Amino acid sequence: MKIARFSRVGFILAAAGSAVGLGNIWKFPYIAGEYGGGAFVLIYLFTVLLIGFSIMIAEMLIGYLGRRDTVTSFEELSPRHKHLWKFAGFQSLAGLFIMIFYSVVIGWIFNYIVTSLSSLPSNVQEAEVIFNAMLHTDALTQLFYHTIAFVWITYVLTKGVKGGIEKMNFVLMPTLMLILGGLFLYATTLDAFSQAVEFMFYPDWSKINSNAFVVAVGHAFFTLSLGMGAIMTYSASMQKNSNLVKNAFWVVFLDTSIAIVAGLMLFTFLYQYGSGPAQGPGLVFISLPAAFYEMGILGNVFAVLFFLALAFAGLTSAVSLVEPMVQYFIDRFSWSRLKSSIYMGLFFYLVGVAALLSNVDGYKEALTWGGKNFFDWVDYVTAAIMLPVGGLLMAIFVGFVMEKSRVESVMRPQLGWAFDAWYFSLRYVTPVAMFVVIISLMGII
Ligand code: PHE
Repeated sequence: MKIARFSRVGFILAAAGSAVGLGNIWKFPYIAGEYGGGAFVLIYLFTVLLIGFSIMIAEMLIGYLGRRDTVTSFEELSPRHKHLWKFAGFQSLAGLFIMIFYSVVIGWIFNYIVTSLSSLPSNVQEAEVIFNAMLHTDALTQLFYHTIAFVWITYVLTKGVKGGIEKMNFVLMPTLMLILGGLFLYATTLDAFSQAVEFMFYPDWSKINSNAFVVAVGHAFFTLSLGMGAIMTYSASMQKNSNLVKNAFWVVFLDTSIAIVAGLMLFTFLYQYGSGPAQGPGLVFISLPAAFYEMGILGNVFAVLFFLALAFAGLTSAVSLVEPMVQYFIDRFSWSRLKSSIYMGLFFYLVGVAALLSNVDGYKEALTWGGKNFFDWVDYVTAAIMLPVGGLLMAIFVGFVMEKSRVESVMRPQLGWAFDAWYFSLRYVTPVAMFVVIISLMGII
């Protein structure tokens, strides 16, 4: 069977497309805001470099050597207990679960692209009313856009690695960078830019509590797409003789710089025209549209561009969330790509409807348990538990289970003297840090 492979640039764009998502543009700025800006950003950067980067290389290595779906790759690379280790591959289910709410949020963004064309809320209160009306009462609008997201994502998946995933990333990723770059340049001309820089880089350690480290690590995983086999599955289609370290570097670099650029841009607009770094998840859907309103007609243009970029970021991550399970059914059950994509798509689409309804008045009550609705439960179980557990499994797998000679033969030439540091980090630093994080996350959320 001829395997479709990403081109070299195509791989980097696709993996960066997976990493750069709602996590960077929607989540990072508001959690940075909540944990006091600068100090949190430093902890996050440190975590990305110390833990995220090594696990990224490890996850790429499993996919690159395994060359199959995640379950088969774990099975084939483990010298012993194959039947047990293959279960690590089922981490990929986390991607399908994340999609249950991710697709709904992409739907909101589509809705905001359309409404920003004609009107923007004139103040934060009005923006809040509009957002809550959509969230809590307008099931139909949400359903409509959730359906469009489902059709788009599933269509791209049916077209495969080259004709679907690579092609979409080739168009959307550069466009996204251009839009964000343009908005960022404009932001640098505003007076409030220096305030934004200060907010994001001036460490106010008094705002840091013990949770900040935990949140930073959890977010590093989410934003780098680690722990559920998205990067692993893409790496199975990497060219032979690729340099994993270089690839991982580019993905981490693009992901981190886009988060920082987006954060600086958002905070500048919010300081200049709005209510400051208004905290909470409503940042881009509530505070930001109200800030754009103050810019007049230019604000409409900026709002549409911004939500387009956000939608692109979300879509390129979404395909990577579903692809591992699509690949699993192709490899293990000989399903056609078409069949596999449609079945996986239907899964997140239909369960996504329940997540959508769990925010809507009248359905909410039936879909809420223990103080969290279905939507929030899915977010919590995947991001707080499944991804960190997945990352831990990968570190242990490469660090202790795979034969060292095999790991070394590929990685020593690429890493040079840093090989031992990387290996040590996988064996000791990462497991200890992840263990602490998993325990604490279960307690604090
Ligand atoms: N990295 C994506 C984001 O930041 C989310 C994601 C997580 C994608 C895990 C794939 C795998 O939004």
